[in-house]
Amino acid sequence: MDTETIENTNFQYVKLANEIEERIKKGEFTAGEKLTSLRKMHKQSGLSITTVYQSYIELEKRGIIESRSKSGFFVKPLISSYIKVPDILKPKIEPRRISINSVACSIVENLNDPNILHLGASAPPKELLPIKQLAKIIKKESTKNLENIIHTYGNPSGNISLRKQILKRTVGKNQKNIYLDDIIITSGCLNAVTLCLKAITKKGDTVAVESPTFHCFLQLIEDLGLMALELPTNISTGVELDNLEQILDENNVKVCLFIPTFNNPIGSNMPVQKRKEIVELLNRKEIPVIEDDIHGDLFFEGRLQPTLKSFDRKGLVLYCSSFSKSISPGLRVGWVIPGRFKENIKRLKLNTTVATPTLNEFVIAEYLKSGAHDRHLKTLRNRLRNQMSIVTNTIAQCFPEGVKISVPAGGMSLWVQLSENINTFDLYKKTMEENISFLPGGLCSGTGKYNHCMRISCGLPFDEKLKQGLDTIGRIIKDISLG
Ligand SMILES: Cc1ncc(COP(=O)(O)O)c(C=O)c1O
Repeated sequence: MDTETIENTNFQYVKLANEIEERIKKGEFTAGEKLTSLRKMHKQSGLSITTVYQSYIELEKRGIIESRSKSGFFVKPLISSYIKVPDILKPKIEPRRISINSVACSIVENLNDPNILHLGASAPPKELLPIKQLAKIIKKESTKNLENIIHTYGNPSGNISLRKQILKRTVGKNQKNIYLDDIIITSGCLNAVTLCLKAITKKGDTVAVESPTFHCFLQLIEDLGLMALELPTNISTGVELDNLEQILDENNVKVCLFIPTFNNPIGSNMPVQKRKEIVELLNRKEIPVIEDDIHGDLFFEGRLQPTLKSFDRKGLVLYCSSFSKSISPGLRVGWVIPGRFKENIKRLKLNTTVATPTLNEFVIAEYLKSGAHDRHLKTLRNRLRNQMSIVTNTIAQCFPEGVKISVPAGGMSLWVQLSENINTFDLYKKTMEENISFLPGGLCSGTGKYNHCMRISCGLPFDEKLKQGLDTIGRIIKDISLG
């Protein structure tokens, strides 16, 4: 964006363009949507049609909207049509010991540093979370009530009112035959996944995951002394079904750990038929699958996907999720629906934490009861979709030609592939000198195949600082390429 032009707000058309740009970023108009007509905007703003037209041309120059002949102006859709998607790499299929914890921890350690532009953190910023409503809930409780909530340990399976709210939402996700007792509250989704892995595996067992996968899964697999079997994964449809049965047999897989909906980091979203077939296969082979559905609510178009759990006939799908991406990561409230492993998981939770924090459970339960969550989710989805669109456009403009970018239909992460001579661990060191962080792709696999990839979060609202951050990364990549 041309800062000189933007700062020159003496011009009415620039002022209007800035206002509309802000509204687009807030999600009032979604990517691909038609902008208010010139005539209508002229009436709304009190400015002449010529001035409104100039604003639209200005927005077009900024790359935010586009004119379509005889149809008007539209918010630019994702530019997937002219950006290539990252390659699907075919790592050797073999169980591997993982060793990424020391590097991963040093990178994640910086997560709370306010001086760093965090492009690696897959979390929504406070502007996109219902913090005011949560604060209201706490403020309106009397000391007596708060005392009742926090004076003792909570129910080991979790607050009943919270579980009722989760049950309601679970039924909305096509999961039938789930009852209150089947839901166990955890300290976030990662805690749920940890409990599941602990309940099913013992040291040396093999866990099948997508390739690449969420780096925390690999860190956990390393910590638990497990082996990771990275499965061939399609950038848009997730784990490949071809030869899956043979791969599972040959590698003695104990459990699968999948993110079928808006996978972190690549954004893949498994089609319904594939979900059904995978669960049928795993059910038949009696192999449990841990399903991480943390991004399930964050779809940009259409509706909720049926979960793997919804196809499970044998209690072998352990469903995990949390409110970290939509309400508050800090409250650490998640849940697991562990199927036939329920008693094991209950015992593990009891033995490790007794119960989850009662005040946190209460706040989320009250917020869900208020009925505000669905409205909030709608806004959040629009905002994330627009941010992702703008970040994609910006990366395409700022990074060297040939960059490949994923096109997720939900969630908040972009997977970016650079040319093979760029090692993103080295790149990370250089961008950190400029206080900019991202997630090096090498952390998402034990194969060493993704060292020229990176994960960029679209959680942060797009502003000049973010634009400059991406510009800087692009400049450093170009410098490295030139040697
Ligand atoms: C796929 C996935 N699972 C789990 C988590 C962690 O969730 P929580 O903060 O609820 O533990 C994340 C966070 O980035 C994630 O992306």
